[in-house]
Amino acid sequence: MNRPVLISPSILSADFARLGEEVRAIDAAGADWVHVDVMDGHFVPNITIGPMVVKALRPHTQKVMDVHLMITPVDPMLDAFAEAGSDIITVHQEAGPHLHRTIQRIKALGKKAGVSLNPSTPAKMLDYVLEEIDLVLVMSVNPGFGGQSFIESQLRKIEAIRKSIDKLGKPIHLQVDGGVDLTTAPRVIAAGADVLVAGTATFRGGPSAYADNIRGLRGA
Ligand code: DX5
Ligand code: ZN
Repeated sequence: MNRPVLISPSILSADFARLGEEVRAIDAAGADWVHVDVMDGHFVPNITIGPMVVKALRPHTQKVMDVHLMITPVDPMLDAFAEAGSDIITVHQEAGPHLHRTIQRIKALGKKAGVSLNPSTPAKMLDYVLEEIDLVLVMSVNPGFGGQSFIESQLRKIEAIRKSIDKLGKPIHLQVDGGVDLTTAPRVIAAGADVLVAGTATFRGGPSAYADNIRGLRGA
């Protein structure tokens, strides 16, 4: 039950005018991965960044570039995000009818494949793809914005998915994204998560606070 907890700060809460510096700062502050939230103004009601920004950030860190695609259609953009230097490409189950094909494409591009579920999507939607993937991302807020409150019902989903992963016996990461802070982090970890995405809780207080913020979440 003592699995290591990884912290993946969401750069959605970084200073977008200084993104390279911000990525170097969280890297130096002990972030395990760098979480990049890609939004299209269509699948979610906000627009953020595209593959060009991932490519521009790539030289600023050697850490795992954890790219969360909140876009539809997603298949036409997979090659560009792979070429830009993503290490993990996570797509939404709700983003298209051919999830299995999308996963195969990500793997054929030599990348780790993740699948994300919106808060209203049941865990069982993973039943026939879990064995194919490297990561499950449980959204604990409705995707689109940072700084929202954690949705309690997602703890049950995390527990259910943890059971399925353990039953399968494969090293699949269970990541949680949205409203993760010092209060919710211990609950999410107890429910079975091993990767915490945190935007607000990492970047609050500015660069001099990042190391403490990350340490606090990890030790939660
Ligand atoms: C929401 C994004 C999250 C978000 C998390 O659509 O996927 O990564 O930035 O932000 P906080 O940690 O502030 O809830
Ligand atoms: Zn995200």
